[in-house]
Amino acid sequence: MTDALPEDIDDIIVDPRTYGDEHSYHRAFAALRQHDPVHWAEPRDYRPFWAVTRHADIMAVELNAKNFLNDPRQFLVTKTDEDMLLAQSGSSNFARNLVAMDDPDHRAYRALTSAWFGAKSVRALEEEITALARETVDRMIEKGDSCDFAKEIAAWYPLRTIMIVLGVPREDEPLMLALSQKVFGGTDSDSGGGDGMASMVEAFEAFNRYFNAITLDRRTNPRNDVATILANATIDGQPIGEKERNAYYLIVAAAGHDTTSSAISGGLLALIQNPEEMARLRANPDLIGNAVEEFIRWTTPVKHFFRTALGDCEVGGKAIRAGDSLMMCYPSGNRDEAVFDTPFAFRVERPDARKHIAFGYGPHLCLGNMLAKLEIRILFTELLARIDDIRLAGDPAWVEANFVSGLKRLPIRYTVR
Ligand code: HEM
Repeated sequence: MTDALPEDIDDIIVDPRTYGDEHSYHRAFAALRQHDPVHWAEPRDYRPFWAVTRHADIMAVELNAKNFLNDPRQFLVTKTDEDMLLAQSGSSNFARNLVAMDDPDHRAYRALTSAWFGAKSVRALEEEITALARETVDRMIEKGDSCDFAKEIAAWYPLRTIMIVLGVPREDEPLMLALSQKVFGGTDSDSGGGDGMASMVEAFEAFNRYFNAITLDRRTNPRNDVATILANATIDGQPIGEKERNAYYLIVAAAGHDTTSSAISGGLLALIQNPEEMARLRANPDLIGNAVEEFIRWTTPVKHFFRTALGDCEVGGKAIRAGDSLMMCYPSGNRDEAVFDTPFAFRVERPDARKHIAFGYGPHLCLGNMLAKLEIRILFTELLARIDDIRLAGDPAWVEANFVSGLKRLPIRYTVR
């Protein structure tokens, strides 16, 4: 039996502090799943929406991309910030990227890079990523017997991987790190986030300047990277526009980084807090593929995406009107008792782990999902082989952000094998 729905549930759903404390998140959303799984929310500072909290309803909405569109609302933006964006750019979208597009554009733009992020190309990166994972564990060893795993280790490795995929030189890493944290860090100043929209818009502009220079370079010096594909991409025989190109760079750079690092730190914390699971994985390294799925289900770093209904319809028994927006609450779907056996138990052998919807579902399914899983698998394989006796050395802390969030601090102590 879960708690009754609190009176201020609508504000709880959007409050960044809810996401900085996983227990408060799961308490609120377990109550929603039980008492009002498709819930009309009218939070103080946001346009209203339906919070869709059950696994089956989230999948049904995401599969029906003809009626549930990504344009014009993708994630939570306050009314004040939406107005500011409209006044500045004439649109309530930050950028015309894949997550803001619907068919036929979405299909055409996604096709530009889908082979790059497909199984074959991702497998071809295995050697390079293994070298990076070794370097990452070397860093831990160089630090002695303790580190802040979230800040010093997990933040660096996915960033470096995505920079390799994009073709960004290593010396520009700190710039990319600062920019993507500004875009995704929300208002949490500990994680590089700034004062909301103003700081995000500034970060977008800096990204654009940076990627315009990369584009010019790749047109004269083509290489085997995503930047070269985007710099020279055409759709229906026409070069893609600057705005769309830069939005593409941005979504790949930003989406591939904080998400994966959150799954890595959260996965390690779950292993530390469940020593019998850590022992099971160490004793049977073949479990790593399933364990990675469980890390991702457990942490669900992307907290929501939105869809907007094109026509009147029904979701989970509720009448949805054309124009209503719906928030897909992924971490809630990933603790749905109707799908997962004892959903609040972390189990590396969980047979239903692969049913998670942390990468979304349907035509917008995370483009980088295979890359993310490969990165996480390789890092944990290296880490568990070389580092032993991993314990907490202080309190972990989570980013307070309602879109993408995970651990911002994970102090650990360990021994080297
Ligand atoms: C889309 C999660 C890693 C690139 C998405 C979506 C989610 C998500 C929930 C939206 C899906 C939907 O609307 O149905 C995650 C998680 C990751 C991760 C949890 C790590 C554990 C990555 C990586 C990349 C990436 C490494 C690098 C390329 C993208 C892109 C999209 C996307 C480009 C937009 C796809 C589209 O709209 O067609 N991701 N992601 N993500 N992700 Fe990821």
